[in-house]
Amino acid sequence: MKFNQSNIKKAKKYLNKNTCIGVPTETVYGLAANAYSDLAVKKIFKLKKRPKTNPLIVHYANINDLKKDCVINEDFTKLYKKFSPGPITYILKLKKDSKISKSVTNKGKSLAVRFSKHKIFKKLLSQLSYPLAAPSANISTRLSAVQTSDVREEFGSKIKYILDGGKCKFGLESTIISLTNNPTILRLGVLETSKIEKVLNKKVSFKLNPKKKNAPGQSNLHYSPGIPLEMNVKKPKKNQAFLLIKKRKINFYNYFYLSKINNLSEAAKNLYTVLRKAKNKGFKSIGVEKINDTGVGRSINDRLKRASKL
Ligand code: TXA
Ligand code: MG
Repeated sequence: MKFNQSNIKKAKKYLNKNTCIGVPTETVYGLAANAYSDLAVKKIFKLKKRPKTNPLIVHYANINDLKKDCVINEDFTKLYKKFSPGPITYILKLKKDSKISKSVTNKGKSLAVRFSKHKIFKKLLSQLSYPLAAPSANISTRLSAVQTSDVREEFGSKIKYILDGGKCKFGLESTIISLTNNPTILRLGVLETSKIEKVLNKKVSFKLNPKKKNAPGQSNLHYSPGIPLEMNVKKPKKNQAFLLIKKRKINFYNYFYLSKINNLSEAAKNLYTVLRKAKNKGFKSIGVEKINDTGVGRSINDRLKRASKL
């Protein structure tokens, strides 16, 4: 995707007026607004229909800006050096004098922060005098958006501008790790946890399903195409879209490939697009072939499991 300063200028104009816009990242598209403005942040919750108890991720241009708002520690420094900018989100302690809007965290004491590697988004962030709160650009509980047309499908004319950054490189959300205490993974994502453990030189804990609904973390139904979804399907039902992970001879008309060669990164990249396509073609439900629960396959299965809660 070519970098275009006039688009960045437009994006800046909207953001400076406290308007929400769509932004590209290497994981999924975000719905962005000035994280220091209460007015702007409240618009994100409204547009996404997101419970205000569910805090937002804030995107920074660089570590010096982050240090104004958050307390960093040794684990953070190690991971930051190795993986940022990239598909990892850190939960850190908020500083008492931070300028982050109270609505971002629902008055909580920690903040989710990320440094994106997307060239165009990075350029935009570097030209702003504030960080951007940007959760995934989808209506709450629905499929994430991986290209501008998906963002448009979610919000229609309710959002004024989408900064085009092409199709997202990974197509799946960042891995979230809480570093306010012992390192704890809150959401599986693009970055494999084994790589995180290697850099920290210790085991991490997992807290993927918090008991309290809409508490920081994840609600159970999420990433849903809006129609029933079934995992580990061997043979699809009538009117069911069938998602495959490797090429095979089939005599159904209703199949879609996540990958033809069992490549899990490719499947992750195609996941939301294929789910969206199956839904839009009018199928009544979706069946997905068994996906290996290794590497990024674990993150894919995590999303499918939540999507199947409908
Ligand atoms: O790849 C990504 O992370 C994308 C791109 C746009 O950056 N963003 C994204 O944001 O997936 P969102 O809002 O859809 O998911 C963020 C998750 C939510 O489940 C939220 O509950 C959790 O992060 N979260 C945010 N702040 C938190 C906090 N202070 N403590 C614990 N969890 C938090
Ligand atoms: Mg989301």
